[in-house]
Amino acid sequence: MTTQSIPFLDLNSLHAENATEYKEVFEQALATGRFIGGPQVTEFENEFAQFCDAQYCVGVGSGTDAVRFALMASGVELNDIVITVPNTFIATTESITQVGADIVFVDIDEKTYNLSPEKLQNYLENECELKDGTTYNKNNGKRVKAVVPVHLYGQVADMDAIMDIAEKYGLIVVEDACQAHGATYFSKKQNKTLTAGSIGKAAAFSFYPGKNLGAFGEGGAVTTNDESIANIIKKIRDHGQAQKYIHDIEGYNGRLDAIQAGVLRIKLRNLPKWNEQRIEAARKYTELFSSVDSIIAPVELDGAKPVYHLYVIRVKNRDQLQKKLSEVNIGTGLHYPIPLHLQEAYTQLGYKTGDFPVTEVVAEELLSMPMFPGLSESQVERVVSSIKELV
Ligand SMILES: Cc1ncc(COP(=O)(O)O)c(C=O)c1O
Repeated sequence: MTTQSIPFLDLNSLHAENATEYKEVFEQALATGRFIGGPQVTEFENEFAQFCDAQYCVGVGSGTDAVRFALMASGVELNDIVITVPNTFIATTESITQVGADIVFVDIDEKTYNLSPEKLQNYLENECELKDGTTYNKNNGKRVKAVVPVHLYGQVADMDAIMDIAEKYGLIVVEDACQAHGATYFSKKQNKTLTAGSIGKAAAFSFYPGKNLGAFGEGGAVTTNDESIANIIKKIRDHGQAQKYIHDIEGYNGRLDAIQAGVLRIKLRNLPKWNEQRIEAARKYTELFSSVDSIIAPVELDGAKPVYHLYVIRVKNRDQLQKKLSEVNIGTGLHYPIPLHLQEAYTQLGYKTGDFPVTEVVAEELLSMPMFPGLSESQVERVVSSIKELV
């Protein structure tokens, strides 16, 4: 067996591709002194809105800002309930708490690892009541205002079903698209292909460096087709001001800076190609894993085109396999090893082991394979052949 090392993520080779262009962004910032706002940010916002097939895009400081601001601008208020999944990064739920709302978890679908529409429906039907178009929790009377489906690992959640349920119960849908730049699915309901970021009331994206579209630091964006939401977020990200020193509301320091926007513009031009390279690597993995009985490869929802931010398999004795892979210099990741409802940070929510069985089982078995644009066929072959020898 060759001992060539395969990292979990290789950003350096990717960045080498356009190094000259990136340097020009820094030189331009030095020459103009424009670091916050300005044409780079506006141009990026226009280009990213177009990429997502959304009407508006507002650049913000991070994906966490994006989820938080999208919830605020969509009308989530203190003591509202916001529903999401326990198998996500904590930023999704931090944002819910930080707008003053209560987190309610609903379990995931066993095949896609995304929000289960059936379980969403069960929660709303059994634990809530619908009065005059608004849904309230039967136990505490709180308003159920929004649902945040997370397009985890780069696959769009089952949005036709989720949008139908949300409409029936008067819920706002905020997509957490932080891992899904460019992911699409064919909507049977609308009879057309829809892109992540254009489906719900608003959608949040992260440009954390390791994302499919990553900045050289922190960055994020909200996309929406609702002009008033875009305008509110423009204020929220900038201390509540649309005009300097005129503060209509209190906001945040949550802007996307010009250097990041400049870098993101260069990367956005390359993103379709990079996403295709991820998809190609995923196709190869899935083909090779089909002959390995002990591995469950990712399942694509009918009509979905995931962009494979992560390629995540399921395997028993996952920790042992991860350790052995690291001994043969193959990097892997865990997304996510401890479900959010069992995290110390959320003991006050009162959840316990057994509440979300699918999330709990898969949390012990999920293993993220090396995945990045430029991952070669021979690297994928080596990962899979090593796994075949080790399981
Ligand atoms: C699903 C999900 N939501 C939210 C975030 C938050 O993004 P950021 O790290 O840019 O704040 C991330 C990224 O880490 C994420 O993966």
